[in-house]
Amino acid sequence: MHCAVFMVVTISYFFWTDAVNHYNKDENKALKYLIEPPVYAEIKARRGENATLPCVLRTVPSHYRVKWSKVDSLNTAAKNIVLISNGHEVKHYGTWQSKASLRRMHALDISLRLTKLELQDCGLYQCELINGIDDEGVTITLSIEGVVFPYQSSHGRYKFTYFDAKKACAEQDATLATYTQLYREWTDGLEWCNAGWINDGTVHYPILNPRPSCGKDLPPGIRSYGPRDKTKEHYDAFCFTSTTKGSVFFVPGRLTFLEAEHACKEKGASLALVGQLYSSWKFLGLERCDGGWLQDGSVRFPIITPKKRCGGVPQPGVHSFGFPKKTISSYGAYCYIVINDH
Ligand SMILES: *[C@@H]1O[C@H](CO)[C@@H](O)[C@H](O)[C@H]1NC(C)=O
Repeated sequence: MHCAVFMVVTISYFFWTDAVNHYNKDENKALKYLIEPPVYAEIKARRGENATLPCVLRTVPSHYRVKWSKVDSLNTAAKNIVLISNGHEVKHYGTWQSKASLRRMHALDISLRLTKLELQDCGLYQCELINGIDDEGVTITLSIEGVVFPYQSSHGRYKFTYFDAKKACAEQDATLATYTQLYREWTDGLEWCNAGWINDGTVHYPILNPRPSCGKDLPPGIRSYGPRDKTKEHYDAFCFTSTTKGSVFFVPGRLTFLEAEHACKEKGASLALVGQLYSSWKFLGLERCDGGWLQDGSVRFPIITPKKRCGGVPQPGVHSFGFPKKTISSYGAYCYIVINDH
């Protein structure tokens, strides 16, 4: 059960997302009606924000339809139609009505506007011009800016099936990370010596400082176990979250888990989820040298600048004391509160 079983370094994995970043249906054919995004084929935004995916006509054909679709992240052959417009009317599909619209800033603009972004909105979008035989399309990537964190069951290491992992992330205000998100976090310093599920059903662990107990003598990188059995095999999870409406604050004290729950409630808040603590650490600069209870029963503390007097932890990050007995009264509380801004 150690890190080295089935170890494969998947360097080719690193590059596949770039390869599909922008293409048109016939690779060698110049676009006639659409303008290839020359500067940015990737749009970055945070959860809750609005985003515009650019798509601009070169000329306006006499008859045409515009189709925007989202490529299924788990099956790139499948596409979910967002909307189709004939230039006058727009038909929305599925649940996109409430969040997607054509921007139409000028006669050539067929950019897609998305409001109130959610974690699941990240991925590849395709803007297609349907014009009889000359159909063509460009592809834009929407990335949600966020943070990836490893998550382990309160019962210990390697207790999640794929479906458990997915549920565990959702319960911490997160989704299972994509490979791209995991890779970005690794470049930002994520190292985790246990293998975890990501959203496509593959299993990986990110290593920066290879050592005999972890990653052996291969170069730093993301070690991959490849696709695993989603119902029979058990690993940890890599979860992804982004900004939150509210923020996390610390209540000091020597509290049991129940007392911590109470302390938050008294301030109109509730014990924070793990994703919320990571979000406040990453986006709001939350730093605190004291362990505090979270809603899942774990005890953690967020560090931005490591200091000797703070346990001597060498790396910035949200550090964990695991899941102590809930009756131990040694920790404070991390509470989450949403303050209405009007
Ligand atoms: C996003 O779009 C909605 C609807 O158009 C608008 O009400 C809201 O103010 C926008 N939010 C931001 C952050 O721009």
